[in-house]
Amino acid sequence: MLIVALVLVLQLPVWAATPVSSSDTTIEVKVEQLLARMTLEEKVGQMTNIGLTAICKGPFWNDADSLEIDTAKLRYMLQTWHIGSIQGKGKYPPDRQEWHHLIKQIQDYALTETRLGIPVLYGIDGVHGAGYSAGSTLFPQEIACAATWDPAFAYKTGEITSYELKASSTPWNYAPVLDVSCQPLWGRIFETYGEDTYLTTQMGAAYVEGAQQNDLSGKDATAVCLKHFIGYGNPYNGKDRSTAIIPDNELRQYYLPPFQEAIKKGALTVMLNSGSVNGIPGHVNSRWINGVLKGELGFEGFVISDWDDISKLVDVYQVAANVKEATKLAVMAGMDMCMVPYDESFAKNLTELVNEGQVPMARIDDAVRRILSVKYQLGLFEKPYTNPADYPLFGSEQFAMESYLAASESITLLKNNHGILPLQKGTKIMVTGPVAASLNYLNGAWSRSWSGLEEQYNDTGKLSVLEALVQKAGTKNVRYAAGTSIDTMIDLKDAIKQAKKSDVIIACLGEAPATEKPSDINDLDLPPAQIELVKQLSKTGKPIIIVLLEGRPRVFREAEKLSEAVVMAYLPGQEGGTAIADVLFGDVNPSGHLPYTYPRYSGAIWKYNHKASDAMDRNFSLNGFNPQYQFGEGMSYTTFQVSNPEINTDTLSTDDTLQVTVNVKNSGNRSGKTVIQLYLKDEVASLSPDVMRLAGFSKIALEPGESKTVSFTVDNHALAFVDRQNKWVVETGTFQVLVGDSPKRLQSKKFYYQNSK
Ligand code: BGC
Repeated sequence: MLIVALVLVLQLPVWAATPVSSSDTTIEVKVEQLLARMTLEEKVGQMTNIGLTAICKGPFWNDADSLEIDTAKLRYMLQTWHIGSIQGKGKYPPDRQEWHHLIKQIQDYALTETRLGIPVLYGIDGVHGAGYSAGSTLFPQEIACAATWDPAFAYKTGEITSYELKASSTPWNYAPVLDVSCQPLWGRIFETYGEDTYLTTQMGAAYVEGAQQNDLSGKDATAVCLKHFIGYGNPYNGKDRSTAIIPDNELRQYYLPPFQEAIKKGALTVMLNSGSVNGIPGHVNSRWINGVLKGELGFEGFVISDWDDISKLVDVYQVAANVKEATKLAVMAGMDMCMVPYDESFAKNLTELVNEGQVPMARIDDAVRRILSVKYQLGLFEKPYTNPADYPLFGSEQFAMESYLAASESITLLKNNHGILPLQKGTKIMVTGPVAASLNYLNGAWSRSWSGLEEQYNDTGKLSVLEALVQKAGTKNVRYAAGTSIDTMIDLKDAIKQAKKSDVIIACLGEAPATEKPSDINDLDLPPAQIELVKQLSKTGKPIIIVLLEGRPRVFREAEKLSEAVVMAYLPGQEGGTAIADVLFGDVNPSGHLPYTYPRYSGAIWKYNHKASDAMDRNFSLNGFNPQYQFGEGMSYTTFQVSNPEINTDTLSTDDTLQVTVNVKNSGNRSGKTVIQLYLKDEVASLSPDVMRLAGFSKIALEPGESKTVSFTVDNHALAFVDRQNKWVVETGTFQVLVGDSPKRLQSKKFYYQNSK
């Protein structure tokens, strides 16, 4: 009976029942007044998002190094088809003056030459900074930001990205990515905050607060776009935009909370999952878009498709016979805006569908209300573009320093035999490996170009790992031979020769920048040439320090065994080379901790919060969990002692909160930071419980000899899971509290939870 009632609620069309309400009633009134004056064609135009190059001279896939708006195309799109949103760039990154010039032309036309003068909403991917504006600050990618375990860095990234996007006249950012991902084959893990729901939720919420500044109309704020609703990050076969198999209760427990929290923080736009979950493409998943997002969560903003995904419903997902039918399915499922992006076809098809009575006008009105409300909240009617001169800190040293700080706190020391790191000044180093000598391997995709591969767009004056090491250690102390490209041996003999003349080998291993389909791989192992390079170099007897620059955890077991130290640098961004050199020479004491489980074998994939049964070994014991490194691991050049965990009660009842305290001492002789992690384990549950689940974390700084007490407050929700009826429940029984600075050293306490409801 309960289930039937739930289903009925979920199927109620939100657009028919609840007009969008904004906290600002004057905006509501303005939206209604404007909507009342709009024709059908003007309304569907607002729901249409096209690429910039669709209004520029030349072809859509425009490789030119300058773009010019084609006034005939602009007129056609804005006047004939009333297009309301434009996005993206061509191949090269324009600078902020050029962005001003381009967007001003568009907005001047929209405001003065169209009947209703509605400004265009311009959107772009500011994935790790306003990367598509030449000269902007490039931050560590999200995965590295997560490795800082400090939401203040996500906040800063959001804040500065907004500032620099606004300096480029762009008010809408297709970020952050809030997909939780535990599929290491998937090439977009670097765009996420990793495999844990709680960490992703904290980081995502901080990003939104930084980016939106509690006032979308503020000079430095942009509207965020949460991506990609929902379940995109866990494709079953590891390939981008393929099928994920995720039961509803797991979608709710592991994948929904980051979106839910970001919406609470005021996020007003959401982009859909370009893949499918349980066979249902993200773009037609009415139960999740209408039902959960707009219904249950009460999301008042608008939902945009991902790139060209309506036509993919026809030829890729094969759930619609033609694009018109696909348009109807997606719009009725709750998609409010379509990133077409090539042409006006969506507007044309949708107009026909409404005229034929296949899509009700109420649905169109609902979508347009949502879109206009965001435009009003952004203040676009009053200020449709900005003056770059009002943003003097764009690309400044001050912002570069923020990026550097984030990078230096993300770098994660995973192995350090015999304290080989930090290196002594004067050590003769040999730098090798395919990713040492280029900025592209630090920044990854979504940098100056989508692929992140084009070297011609790299900034001058920024340092690769090799250049930063030369600057730090001095030319006479640094030798270099690449040894291999990403997958082919190139100068092994030279590498061996240089290594023999050095004290230490720094092998920079990893993968080339890539995202989306080009990031698909068939083998999680690092290419054999790179492993072979390490094997051959190890024969010199010189100690090897491996520095990893990679978007996902590539298996490197054989090389790892031959190394003395491993430094994970993820994709640390523009200042990453300097940060790596500072970590290697001890000017920065590393404090990053892994935001995912690093596999040892490509055929043994776990997430840290797996079920006990997943770790059953060949002898039927439950000790098979044996990744290369664990989620939450990260070493320091000092040592920390965690002691005396305490909880305030042995028996917790509903509505009580649990207080946990633990003492932490810096027992070494350097100042340093560590991350105290709090996990919970439900000992017995009606659905097989996770072996543990992160419920709190705190990054603290301690001077040598200094101690601190770290406290956590845990509410009942942290004990809950989503049951077979898709409801959050906490079951009576014993729970463990596990606390420590590494999942390898957790201390535990137990309490009994009595559910009194
Ligand atoms: C990606 C999105 C991105 C969009 C616009 C898509 O292909 O999946 O993450 O925001 O393109 O560039």
